[in-house]
Amino acid sequence: MDCMDVIRTRRSIRQYRPDAIPDDILSQILEAGRLAPSTMHWQPWYFGVVRDPELKQELTLAAGNQEWIVTAPIVMAMCVPLVRDLKTLPEDDPWIACNNLRFGSDLVDHLNAFSDRRAMMKYADTADIFIAGQQMVLAAESFGISSCWIGYLNIDRASRLLKLPDDIACLYLLPMGYPAVDPDPIERKSIDEVVFYDTWS
Ligand SMILES: Cc1cc2nc3c(=O)[nH]c(=O)nc-3n(C[C@H](O)[C@H](O)[C@H](O)COP(=O)(O)O)c2cc1C
Repeated sequence: MDCMDVIRTRRSIRQYRPDAIPDDILSQILEAGRLAPSTMHWQPWYFGVVRDPELKQELTLAAGNQEWIVTAPIVMAMCVPLVRDLKTLPEDDPWIACNNLRFGSDLVDHLNAFSDRRAMMKYADTADIFIAGQQMVLAAESFGISSCWIGYLNIDRASRLLKLPDDIACLYLLPMGYPAVDPDPIERKSIDEVVFYDTWS
């Protein structure tokens, strides 16, 4: 499948066949994540490959008991390092400069007012893991393997289940497997609704 076919046919799948994902294909899916672009080439990600049935069950509970997750032969745990605390960085740090430029210093001040520094870091570190994850999703799709982002997740509970160190958190799950269902296409916004050329008007 070429890239546009993969993008066009991908759907979030919530029921999987029990067939295992072959190791050579899994390696390529992980490679797709590893090669993703990231802010300042920081590469802030760890990809947990969860195959243990009991652990999958526990993660499912941490995801509000979305029971279908356990049908996936693999659940990817999309984890990020929680080490860049804006509060501890010098004013001229490129990370601070980038955040000030993008969001304004008011937001940086707001994040720095969080008493729970872990909460601040979990809130701030999401963009790069999405890009790596979606590269994995599309690579998987090219091998006929489906997935579904799981953001409805108790991050702390999932991170504890995975026995992550304190400065790493699992922000999302990505169950993956061969699809057991073939959902109907869903409506999308039209191109006219989502595209503008040059300025808004
Ligand atoms: C960041 C993110 C979090 C999501 N979290 C969940 C989730 O917790 N449970 C779920 O069933 N679907 C989840 N989804 C899947 C969306 O519901 C799905 O992508 C959307 O309905 C469009 O359907 P499609 O992916 O089949 O095109 C999530 C998607 C994204 C991008």
